[in-house]
Formats: sequence, C-alpha cells, structure tokens
Amino acid sequence: MRFTGKNAVVTGGASGIGKATALRLAEEGAQVWIGDIDEAGGREIADMSNGKIHFLRTDVMQAGDIQAIMHAVDSAGGLDVVFNNAGAGGSRDPIDKIRPDDWDRTLALLLRSVALGIRYAAPLMIARRERGGGGGAIVNTASIAALQTGAAPTAYSVAKAGVLHLTKMAAADLSRYDIRVNAVCPGFITTNIFTSALGIEGEKLAQANGAINHIAAKAQPLQRAGRAEDIAAAVAYLASADASFVTGTHITVDGGMTIGPRHSWDADVPSLFSSLEAFAG
Ligand SMILES: NC(=O)c1ccc[n+]([C@@H]2O[C@H](COP(=O)([O-])OP(=O)(O)OC[C@H]3O[C@@H](n4cnc5c(N)ncnc54)[C@H](O)[C@@H]3O)[C@@H](O)[C@H]2O)c1
Repeated sequence: MRFTGKNAVVTGGASGIGKATALRLAEEGAQVWIGDIDEAGGREIADMSNGKIHFLRTDVMQAGDIQAIMHAVDSAGGLDVVFNNAGAGGSRDPIDKIRPDDWDRTLALLLRSVALGIRYAAPLMIARRERGGGGGAIVNTASIAALQTGAAPTAYSVAKAGVLHLTKMAAADLSRYDIRVNAVCPGFITTNIFTSALGIEGEKLAQANGAINHIAAKAQPLQRAGRAEDIAAAVAYLASADASFVTGTHITVDGGMTIGPRHSWDADVPSLFSSLEAFAG
C-alpha cells in the first residue's frame, strides 16, 4: 500500500500499460485519474473501481486538456504522482518520405505531451510543497526505441529518445523542489498499440493478440510475452517512496531485448565464430 493517501494522474490509462498502471496504483491505495481520449474504455475502468479510479476526458495533443486534469487532481487534494504515458505508433514513414505534418503530429503526441504534462504538473507540486506538502514523482513512458534502431519507426523513436533527455532535464530543474522525474523503457509488450492503428477490432482482435503473444514470446532472451503489468510494476516503483533517491534516469523492462545482438543469446542464430567452426582444422 505504497500510495495510500496519494493522488495520481495516468494519461493513456484506458488501455494497455496505462490501464495496468492505474489498476496497480489504485490497488496500492492511490486515488487515480485516468486521462484518455477513449471515453468508453476509461469510464468502464472507473465504474469497476469502487471509487478508486476516476476518468477525465483528456486529449494530450491539447495543452488545455493536460492543464485541466492536473488542476482537477490538485484541487481534489494534491497532485502526488503523474504518469505521462498516452501514445500511439505515429507515422511509419522513413526519414526520406515523411511529411512535415506527420512528423509534427507524432512528435506532439509522444514528446510535446510529456513536456506539457511536466510543465503543468510541476508548478502545482511546487506550490503544494511551499504550503508544507511533500514533493512529487513524475514517470514518463519512453521505449527501447529510444535506445536503439529497429524497434519502431523513425519519428516515434526520435520522440522517445527526446522523452529520455527531457526526463533528465526536468529532473535537473525540479530536484530542488523534491520532485523526481524518471522514465520507463518498455520492450515488446502485448497491448492494443499494434492493432489499433490497423483498425483491428472484435473477434479479430483476440486472434491478432494471440499472434502477437506468440511472436512476442520469442522476441527477446526471456521467452515469454511482455505484459503491461511488467511495466506497471516498474512505474509503481519509480513513483513510490522506495525510489526516493532515484531521479533523472530510466528503467528498461524488455525481457533482455537490448542486451545485445540476437546471436549473443539465441543459440539458433549463428555468430561469426559458430559459422567459422565449419572451416576449423
Ligand atoms: N506496447 C509496447 O510494446 C510499447 C513499447 C514501448 C513503449 N510503449 C509506449 O507505451 C505507452 C502506452 O502504450 P500501450 O502499449 O499501452 O498502447 P495502448 O494502445 O494499449 O494504450 C495507449 C492509450 O493511449 C491513449 N491515447 C492515444 N492518443 C491519445 C491522446 N491524444 N490523448 C490521450 N490519450 C491518448 C489511447 O486511447 C490508449 O488508451 C505509449 O506511450 C507507447 O508508445 C509501448
């Protein structure tokens, strides 16, 4: 019960990683406000939560919406935890084809939204601290795409790399107010992010998720599909007092995907040395 008496905002909390995190924080005692454009999904979670989870329609592309949810939670008793997490795949185009508007939209959804989440949460946390309250904890969703190529399209990966540096800059700016800022880098996690862009719904969604789980189980050294709950556990740690001496950094939760090249951990993929064995005397 690390969040008893604490209030948290979770953007993108109607699905996937955000939903699992909202449930985890609520399970550990927090009052949680989900900010999402999916009204049906967000309200369903709130309705089933026995008053622990609330929904406020929030489009993170809109600065006013982000400001509004931060103020609502501050007015409800103080803002303790913010998880800037909402997102989608964005433009899939390579750098030689992407249109300026698609670049801007992807960066706005994945990077500007996080910057504005911090921008509007921090002054409220600072003001409460000046009134004698505690500091705050902000966690941002980056990705292993921030760390290496090959995990996601170009605009998405650049935005997520920006989230990691923004996390450090914000931690530097805000540590004097006892506000910690950290990030989580998920690997391949089975959520709707892969299917929603393709418009896959209903019965086909269950089938597609089965196929994703099958692929995901073999995508990294730890041979099981990554779950939204794996990320929620890391976010809960970073947001909690257990991480009170942790700021400006990130936790990678990827089943080992970023350890190194596939041949270093997959015996079925030949390395240079195993290939040369055929020539050895
Ligand atoms: N699933 C993965 O493998 C993976 C890996 C690395 C990073 N991520 C990141 O995790 C975060 C959550 O994604 P997920 O995998 O849970 O996907 P998801 O599709 O299950 O959830 C994303 C949520 O964000 C919401 N959202 C989208 N646009 C929004 C907007 N403009 N305003 C408010 N809410 C909006 C959606 O409605 C949805 O509820 C994203 O930032 C994503 O980039 C996911």
